Amino acid sequence: MSDLEQGVAVLERSGVARARPLVVALGGTLSAGSSTEKALRVALAGAAAAGADVEIISGAALDMPLYAWERKERTPAAAHLVATLRRADGVILGSPGYHGGISGLVKNALDYTEDMARDDWPYFHGRPVGAVATGAGWQGAVATLIALRGVVHALRGWNTPLGVAINTSERVFDAEGACVDAKIDAMLQAMGREVAQAARVRAMMLQADAPTP
Ligand SMILES: Cc1cc2nc3c(=O)[nH]c(=O)nc-3n(C[C@H](O)[C@H](O)[C@H](O)COP(=O)(O)O)c2cc1C
Repeated sequence: MSDLEQGVAVLERSGVARARPLVVALGGTLSAGSSTEKALRVALAGAAAAGADVEIISGAALDMPLYAWERKERTPAAAHLVATLRRADGVILGSPGYHGGISGLVKNALDYTEDMARDDWPYFHGRPVGAVATGAGWQGAVATLIALRGVVHALRGWNTPLGVAINTSERVFDAEGACVDAKIDAMLQAMGREVAQAARVRAMMLQADAPTP
């Protein structure tokens, strides 16, 4: 039994009902065949297998204006992003490495979390966050993974112990999105599980704290 499962068991013994956490994946590219999106979906499958409800914000859902704090109007995609992240108990981020760092598309989406700055749970506060980065080589993938984890830190989230860097110059996913590399598949699913387990503890704590109707 992991530490987190023990935490869940302690909460259950003290009368808190087992809650179903929501894990939200955010990232990828606008392209239909995005390997980063495929990686996020495999990680989400791990989270779902560990009992989480899952949602993904990827592809066209990332297409929103450049974030500018002085502009207060929000497109439907930007409003959906913030509303979904507010409901999230756990998050999984995914970015391709573009010129040695996070893609502008993914970073722009993350900048919209500024709308959560004054929430009771600001930004990613109290939420476990997994991260996956892809690149056409190890250097870009690893540099981008480290950059993503730095953003999670700035947004007050809890980086999971496991992060996943993927070199997509090797064959990793098939056309349907299945991961054909057994080691990467296992790592992505394990990271999804880690997020789901920590997210469950958060969901149960919120439930225990909620006023009785
Ligand atoms: C504009 C652009 C810049 C890129 N820069 C890098 C880079 O600096 N290092 C790297 O390893 N790969 C780089 N790549 C390759 C992508 O990171 C890699 O192909 C990634 O897996 C693409 O993700 P996707 O399949 O989700 O689109 C770049 C690709 C593009 C389109």
